[in-house]
Amino acid sequence: MSTQIKLDPMTPVPFAVAKRVQELADTFTIELAPTSTDGFVFQPGQFNMLYAFGVGEVPISISGDPSDPSKLVHTVRNVGAVTDALSKLKKGEQLGVRGPFGSAWPVVEAEGNDVVIVAGGIGLAPLRPAIEHVLANRSKYGRFVVLYGARSPADVLYMKQLQMWRGRLDTYVDVTVDHAGRDWAGNVGVVTRLIGRANFDVHHAKVFICGPELMMRFTIKELSDLGVAKDDIYVSMERNMKCAIGHCGHCQFGGHFICKDGPVFPYARIENLMQVRGL
Ligand SMILES: Cc1cc2nc3c(=O)[nH]c(=O)nc-3n(C[C@H](O)[C@H](O)[C@H](O)COP(=O)(O)OP(=O)(O)OC[C@H]3O[C@@H](n4cnc5c(N)ncnc54)[C@H](O)[C@@H]3O)c2cc1C
Ligand code: FES
Repeated sequence: MSTQIKLDPMTPVPFAVAKRVQELADTFTIELAPTSTDGFVFQPGQFNMLYAFGVGEVPISISGDPSDPSKLVHTVRNVGAVTDALSKLKKGEQLGVRGPFGSAWPVVEAEGNDVVIVAGGIGLAPLRPAIEHVLANRSKYGRFVVLYGARSPADVLYMKQLQMWRGRLDTYVDVTVDHAGRDWAGNVGVVTRLIGRANFDVHHAKVFICGPELMMRFTIKELSDLGVAKDDIYVSMERNMKCAIGHCGHCQFGGHFICKDGPVFPYARIENLMQVRGL
């Protein structure tokens, strides 16, 4: 018999921090212990609202392995009041969780195709569950490409995991940084430079992109120039949120609510909106 608790979408459920890892100077991962024996089921690309008690609530993507519901994992960059409060939580301390919310990366629809992941900065966190899914179901996909760009070597997220994925014979991983010192033997330059040499079938590929909006725009242009169809490109969008269930209008993006219709959109659906800067 299922013991999954049906969460009220507006009521945060308390979860305790089971593990905390400092990933980068300003970025940490917290692993939460689910309150039901079924664990926390989600789809790659979805997010939760995390509530730092007494401070506030923020949307954060789920960054763990979707096949392992015993761990609820989020990777957070400390940029303001709420993320700072979350960063100070120690093992055993509690926070509130609402979710999971939003749309997912189309990992099932992508079966039979090449899959290309293009991530910038902390954008690798919302894509990690999709990467885990493809790797766990590797025979269902064609060529698997992971392209990642960070500001500097010190900003490369999940370095050990990138190395592990790169070590597999069935996965192509390429990493670049915007600037680096002499001790960096890897690529220097923007992530779009990695696309042309990744050697995937542009007519049979699904591309998932997450990162700063400017990086996503340049990535889409490069892909389009190579011949990838708009319908095969998916992006994850971010806006400030309040309710996360399509009621308050805070996350409005043209005619869409990012909390409900997104955060993952087929590019063809939001192409016109992405061309309006500052929307
Ligand atoms: C669907 C979704 C998924 C997200 N996933 C992650 C994640 O996995 N990890 C992570 O670290 N962050 C993620 N974010 C961004 C995160 O929600 C914001 O960084 C957070 O709300 C900042 O809150 P704060 O109180 O700490 O800082 P604030 O004081 O509210 O903001 C600090 C700075 O960040 C800017 N900011 C705030 N919210 C956003 C936003 N949503 N998008 C862009 N800029 C913003 C503000 O304008 C300000 O400059 C996600 C956002 C969305 C909408
Ligand atoms: S956050 Fe309220 S409508 Fe999206």
